[in-house]
Amino acid sequence: MEKWYLMTTVVLIGLTVRWTVSLNSYSGAGKPPMFGDYEAQRHWQEITFNLPIKQWYFNSSDNNLLYWGLDYPPLTAYHSLLCAHVAKFINPDWIALHTSHGYESPAHKLFMRTTVFIADLLIYIPAVVVYCYCLKDMSTKKKIANILCILLYPGLILIDYGHFQNIYNSVRVVN
Ligand SMILES: *[C@@H]1O[C@H](CO)[C@@H](O)[C@H](O)[C@H]1NC(C)=O
Repeated sequence: MEKWYLMTTVVLIGLTVRWTVSLNSYSGAGKPPMFGDYEAQRHWQEITFNLPIKQWYFNSSDNNLLYWGLDYPPLTAYHSLLCAHVAKFINPDWIALHTSHGYESPAHKLFMRTTVFIADLLIYIPAVVVYCYCLKDMSTKKKIANILCILLYPGLILIDYGHFQNIYNSVRVVN
């Protein structure tokens, strides 16, 4: 690949900016009873891990849909389930049914940020790179400039890493 070093630099800049933004606080932190979207993402891990698939989208005594009911299609739910398995391995309290509501800790924050980071690294960033490389009638330099612009697009970074800390909008855009 021509100019691979420029390409690598651009991706590293995109990753560094993402990680740096995520060091801030997020909306809903420490605010019961609903907390925030951070809690929604955590709660979906709790639900998908502890309940059979048939119950994920239905109200029950174990799944109060008024409390961050799962409102994304199954691909997102499976992603939550995957994250939940990792969470369970690190600390089962993070996804314990009922008792984990509003769970917050520095280690958990790090975990949630890392899941977004990895999702971007594995899905969003490669998609952007491949897309831009396939653009026709454009110099490699211009393609790389395009990649830089897309990877640094503030909207997604601020929402995924700053405001909510762990919303996977970048990956959902690709979906
Ligand atoms: C769903 O279940 C919860 C109890 O877990 C209950 O409080 C709530 O009213 C139910 N919501 C609906 C729409 O039935």
